[in-house]
Amino acid sequence: MSSSNPLRDALDRRLPRIAGPSGLVIFGVTGDLSRKKLMPAVYDLANRGLLPPGFSLIGFARRQWEDEDFAQVVYEAVKQHARTPFREEVWAQLVQGCRFVQGDFDDDTAFETLKATIEELDAAQGTGGNFAFYLSVPPKFFPTVVQQLKKHGLAEQQEGAWRRAVIEKPFGHDLASAQELNRIVHDVFPAESVFRIDHYLGKETVQNILALRFANTLFEPIWNRSYVDHVQITMAEDIGIGGRAGYYDGIGAARDVIQNHLLQLLALTAMEEPVSFDADAVAAEKTKVLSAVRLPKDLGKETVRGQYTHGWQGGEEVVGYLEEEGTDPNSKTDTYAAIKLDIDNRRWAGVPFYLRTGKRLGRRVTEIAVVFQRAPYSPFDQTATEELGQNALVIRVQPDEGVTVRFGSKVPGTQMEVRDVSMDFAYGESFTESSPEAYERLILDVLLGESNLFPRLKEVELSWQILDPIEEYWDKHGRPAQYPAGTWGPVEADEMLARDGRSWRRP
Ligand code: BG6
Repeated sequence: MSSSNPLRDALDRRLPRIAGPSGLVIFGVTGDLSRKKLMPAVYDLANRGLLPPGFSLIGFARRQWEDEDFAQVVYEAVKQHARTPFREEVWAQLVQGCRFVQGDFDDDTAFETLKATIEELDAAQGTGGNFAFYLSVPPKFFPTVVQQLKKHGLAEQQEGAWRRAVIEKPFGHDLASAQELNRIVHDVFPAESVFRIDHYLGKETVQNILALRFANTLFEPIWNRSYVDHVQITMAEDIGIGGRAGYYDGIGAARDVIQNHLLQLLALTAMEEPVSFDADAVAAEKTKVLSAVRLPKDLGKETVRGQYTHGWQGGEEVVGYLEEEGTDPNSKTDTYAAIKLDIDNRRWAGVPFYLRTGKRLGRRVTEIAVVFQRAPYSPFDQTATEELGQNALVIRVQPDEGVTVRFGSKVPGTQMEVRDVSMDFAYGESFTESSPEAYERLILDVLLGESNLFPRLKEVELSWQILDPIEEYWDKHGRPAQYPAGTWGPVEADEMLARDGRSWRRP
């Protein structure tokens, strides 16, 4: 809500957003996500001066650790993974609020200890009763943890204080389980206190999609079926599943990242301009466009799932998925997925959105390529219309963050020959400001109670509604196509686009 003073409002918007008195409890604190992303993000926020002086961090896990052991683990995680330089004084302050609670998720005594620890920190660090509970645990433990929080009175919103739940993806493994999980969570926390993480929304380049589209006049007039031929959304990874077989096997690429990251990218690329950038308005537009997504009629021809086999990557020999430690040797889990979706609305009718993702692909790259129709006619003798390239606008989400526009240009010389060239915007060259890590931004938003960058339940449900029939179809029909590690996925995916007279970009 704005005040009657527009200048004051404008200045307020520019002030750094600093969290008030608060603390964070991480369940599953010994996991990879916690060490590589969450702990460093907390330190970076502190280092940037965005956390209150008494900010507290409680780790909850089964390990037999004392507070000092936990502090040492946080220290090492920070030293290894933080983005900002290490500063003794920042660390010295942060470590004062570090505590560890040992226990299983169903251990009542441990939750009573957690309660006492929070009270102790409220008194010693001035956290004011404001705590966020971050569930960085395997999805099967979500219900136990939230129910334990309720049972021990930890979820109760005290007068003038807040309690919030942060839930890592995947939120359910299909529509029914997502709704059931939601019922359990909402029995404990009110809707506005639940923050579902999709860390792609925390990425600078993803937030820039809306700036690019709606802060400029250049792109929006052509961002529709009259000019756009198709859209390709790619999230390619060169890594395999690492030590994550326990989580990944049976989940697969489509559930792991299409249901959340890629469908969110589609929503941001395709949605209408929201009336404002507050959470409700943006969610309303994303919901509308996700509701308009139509599945392919022929799931056999317009979706492809793949599984990597033994191959070479960066000069190193790597094993196939079925030989990875911990996978079922008969697993049908998809490590690659490609899906063609249509959007049934006036802006996009007839413009396919091709989504693909995979592990052990040629290289790590996430991008959104809006590919435009060819020029209708070529007046140049030396270049036939079909030889003209297709203009494209590519939002490079990572790793080489920026935007590229590809268009035809005259080749220098005495003839009128046209060839494709690129025009680039690179974050590194245009800005001196460094991008916060996605988790930094998201943790800060949780502490501030700002929910713009968190998918609403409706978005999660609609995404499962899109994916469920595809997963069902895959379950019933054979095995995933194979592709050697280090390549760009199964040939079936190339054939899928070739049938439409198109081809995947080689990023
Ligand atoms: C996670 C997936 O959500 O995103 C992982 O579970 C994947 O499988 C990761 O590796 C990729 O994230 P980023 O930020 O490196 O693209």
